[in-house]
Amino acid sequence: EPLRIDVISVIPGFFDSPLQNGLLAIARKKQYAEIHVHNLHDYGLGRYRQVDDTPFGGGAGMVIRPEPVFACVEKLLEEREYDWVIFPTPDGKPFDQPLANRLSRTKNIMLLCGHYKAVDDRIRQMLVTMEVSIGDVVVSGGEIPSLVIMDAVVRLIPGVIGDGESALTDSFQTGMLDSAYYTRPAEFRGMKVPDVLLSGHHRNIEKWRYENALQRTLQRRPDLLDKKIFNE
Ligand code: ADE
Repeated sequence: EPLRIDVISVIPGFFDSPLQNGLLAIARKKQYAEIHVHNLHDYGLGRYRQVDDTPFGGGAGMVIRPEPVFACVEKLLEEREYDWVIFPTPDGKPFDQPLANRLSRTKNIMLLCGHYKAVDDRIRQMLVTMEVSIGDVVVSGGEIPSLVIMDAVVRLIPGVIGDGESALTDSFQTGMLDSAYYTRPAEFRGMKVPDVLLSGHHRNIEKWRYENALQRTLQRRPDLLDKKIFNE
């Protein structure tokens, strides 16, 4: 059973290239994931398929009206059950590897992309079941955050990425950053690859990688180690 993801957006064409190239394309071809993009304008109001309007109370920017979003989401909810209706938003729960792991084990998720200034808050109150932020920075719509979420989730579905590039040693999956990596040549412009990596001694290599990962994490993201110790 593939993971089914339904994306609702006012710029559905935004997803063309990401769905036809790279990880998401491969996962769809191999039928690990089924991704459907819906154009919110198909549910828009009047001759111009309007989806937004000016904010009550005034102020800059436009707000997505509830009617098109309710029509689109309710149509999908009639067709199947959804584990989550996700709204990417800077005031949501920080997206992290544990959440990606959880979502990779679900069956159906919806991603509702906001745009313009905001969406009418009744959409968030009545339809959205999870609000997710990809970081403390604002981007111009929910499309890029949705792609971040889809990529992070789909690559964790068993089989999507090969054993060779197993997700198990990824940064964060271990509670730490990943170690450094090297490939040929063994010496480049006087810079040598650590001997142990050329030794073929798997236990020593594992030990080096663990220590390198720990050292990098201590230097770059000591906050991760606080959490890791807390969780152990
Ligand atoms: N929409 C705009 N900025 C966002 C962010 N940082 N995370 C999720 N959705 C967003």
